Amino acid sequence: MASTDRQLDEHSFDSLVIGSGSAGLMYALKVAEHGTVAVLTKRGKVESNTRWAQGGIAAVMGAHDSFESHIADTIKAGDVLNNPEVVRVCVEEGPDRLAELLSLGVSFTYREQEGQLDLTREGGHSERRIVHAKDMTGLAVMESLIQAVDEHPNIAVFEDHHAVDLITRLRLGLPGPDRCLGAYVLNRKLRRIETFVGKVVLLATGGAGKVYRYTSNPDIATGDGIAMGWRAGADIANMEFFQFHPTCLYHPGAKNFLITEACRGEGGILRTLDGEAFMARYHPQKDLAPRDVVARAIDAELKRLGDPHVNLDMTHLEPDELVDRFPGVHGKLMSLGIDMRRQPIPVVPAAHYCCGGVCTDDFGRTSVPGLLAAGETAHTGLHGANRLASNSILESLVFAHRAASIT
Ligand code: SIN
Repeated sequence: MASTDRQLDEHSFDSLVIGSGSAGLMYALKVAEHGTVAVLTKRGKVESNTRWAQGGIAAVMGAHDSFESHIADTIKAGDVLNNPEVVRVCVEEGPDRLAELLSLGVSFTYREQEGQLDLTREGGHSERRIVHAKDMTGLAVMESLIQAVDEHPNIAVFEDHHAVDLITRLRLGLPGPDRCLGAYVLNRKLRRIETFVGKVVLLATGGAGKVYRYTSNPDIATGDGIAMGWRAGADIANMEFFQFHPTCLYHPGAKNFLITEACRGEGGILRTLDGEAFMARYHPQKDLAPRDVVARAIDAELKRLGDPHVNLDMTHLEPDELVDRFPGVHGKLMSLGIDMRRQPIPVVPAAHYCCGGVCTDDFGRTSVPGLLAAGETAHTGLHGANRLASNSILESLVFAHRAASIT
């Protein structure tokens, strides 16, 4: 498969994928049908922002839902700074991409009696349209994608390979039009820089939450792809639109742990420490207002009261159902001595999602020929100023597919 014979540290593939989240792996699977693919990932292949996504994937699947409604919710949450054409493409292609995940065997949650996908609700959505695997959707998606990637003879995954810079014709001083040719990559185990070349390079390194002290993101979310794209001359946009998730766990023993918005979708109520359900004062959708509204409301309450956190109250909900629906959250909380069936969950807003990134057209093409971007690394125009909940894996899948279709 790979030609590694020219030099020990030079690897050549048809496609080079930098990042192993849902965008990178879905693209890899598709382009591997007609060429060799290297997937580079700076830690283990499962570690990505996708892996930590709890809530789900927004897609129009319910009988009462419509594309127009999902489009309207996306644009409203994005403060009308979205690209409407991109929103339409993403929403309309969502069900097909979801069908692909189903055919890969992703263990989504079904409604017990009806045998249909269970659809949950999150902030800013006017319908139940979030397909999920309990509260560990990202992990379920990653497990299926990784299995398919591992089984594919044309894909080689390079773990502990940290891309540090892109190689372009211009940067090499070569004549003629610019083009991305590959990347210089730190092999972390052997502690040396290696060269990976590809006819096409996809940046899919996720977001940049770790530029903030308090974030829901894992340690790997350091914005490498966006920085590499910038240094290689790609256009970048909307980096000022960093989304804060309203409910990250506030606990000295917890690092970056999200309390999924689906908790509020299933009836959780935000309260100040003296018990007031304050969201009614801020928005008619109360706890299910778009997440920028909820995050700002919490921040305002913390400043007004001088409290260190607010509480997310689930204690009025049916205890067994809570444990069944949110096993990941429940397990984590119990490990910290918090029983959400009986106690409120201490939460604060934290940096969650980079709405900006490397500018792409609606096939993932950046302004540098040969360089594509998808997932949180990219700025497609879907999110505007503020991403609608659970539109992120949707965007990754739709644009990974579209980018693969022109590769
Ligand atoms: C969550 O589960 O609340 C996060 C979902 C998302 O960020 O889209």
